Amino acid sequence: MIINNYNANYPVSINFSGHAGCENIITKIGMRKNVTTETRFFRDYKTLKYATNYIREVFRSLKEKYFVVGACSTGEDVYSLKMLMGKEPLKITGFDIGKETVKDAKSGIFSLYFPVESKTKYRIDDLSTYEDAYLGFDKTDLTPEQKQLKKIFSEHFECIETKDSLKYKIKERLRKIFDVTYVEFDKLRFKYKKTGEDFEFKTADIRDFRGMLPERKCQLFAFKNSFYHIVTDNNYCIRQQLPREWIKPMLDKIFKNINKSLDKKGLFIMGENEHNQKSDIFIIGKSLLDNGFLPIRMPDRPYQNIWVKVKEVD
Ligand SMILES: C[S@@+](CC[C@H](N)C(=O)[O-])C[C@H]1O[C@@H](n2cnc3c(N)ncnc32)[C@H](O)[C@@H]1O
Repeated sequence: MIINNYNANYPVSINFSGHAGCENIITKIGMRKNVTTETRFFRDYKTLKYATNYIREVFRSLKEKYFVVGACSTGEDVYSLKMLMGKEPLKITGFDIGKETVKDAKSGIFSLYFPVESKTKYRIDDLSTYEDAYLGFDKTDLTPEQKQLKKIFSEHFECIETKDSLKYKIKERLRKIFDVTYVEFDKLRFKYKKTGEDFEFKTADIRDFRGMLPERKCQLFAFKNSFYHIVTDNNYCIRQQLPREWIKPMLDKIFKNINKSLDKKGLFIMGENEHNQKSDIFIIGKSLLDNGFLPIRMPDRPYQNIWVKVKEVD
């Protein structure tokens, strides 16, 4: 896992969440490109909760469910869906374009961080940028929802490295000697208790993923907070939408493949704030409509980010 080095002067404004980082990938045409792999547990919680309740209800006669999670980064989306599905038998294939990122996802080991100074100055609820830190730290002022999620998290994960462990202390000591300039993080490491059988992780590109997946149909396909990587480009630090005439055929191919992967009535979900990164959500929506999907309207959402497959496409 690559963790960005943060300037100690900006402990709160840094854009940090459960995992922050990026990976330098090599594109098909041999160019290098940086992809942001930032993610966190239970990100887009309302969407995940709605989707898992829907699947439980609509596919209740199906004994074992199967999900595909694209742009899974270090795996938090995958493990969050698994946790929210509870005891339901479920297999998940996660894929991401970043090789190193996928390696981390496979390990099932996660670090939860919390900036030391913030622990004394702020209540965890004030720190919107450290949204999943509550999962690892014992705080008394959690909302009922956070309490519930923390409980689910500790049923699935065990703490393998604490602040008191010798390894942690040695590492911290070394870091203090060699690298005093960055924000100090309290760090705890957690391991998924039942690694292996329920998950597989692959390196794949959403634009070309079909051959990588099992023939089996899925009931949920996720590609969250990642469209900007394929519909925009970073030009001299300014993120710009790529031309519509390039994007539409590419999106049509993607959604045709997703349609083919899904069972009828299956869901496609994306992030709740996909448009914040300059993705043109209307072209994405148009392409979904053209490829057999209809939106499910969620209250309080600026646009539809949950889509249901209503028909097959050729
Ligand atoms: C900002 S992260 C989002 C992670 C996670 N889905 C979430 O909602 O927290 C974007 C991820 O998209 C992945 N990605 C970018 N382009 C991709 C592509 N063409 N196919 C598959 N994954 C891609 C990146 O490697 C990165 O891990």
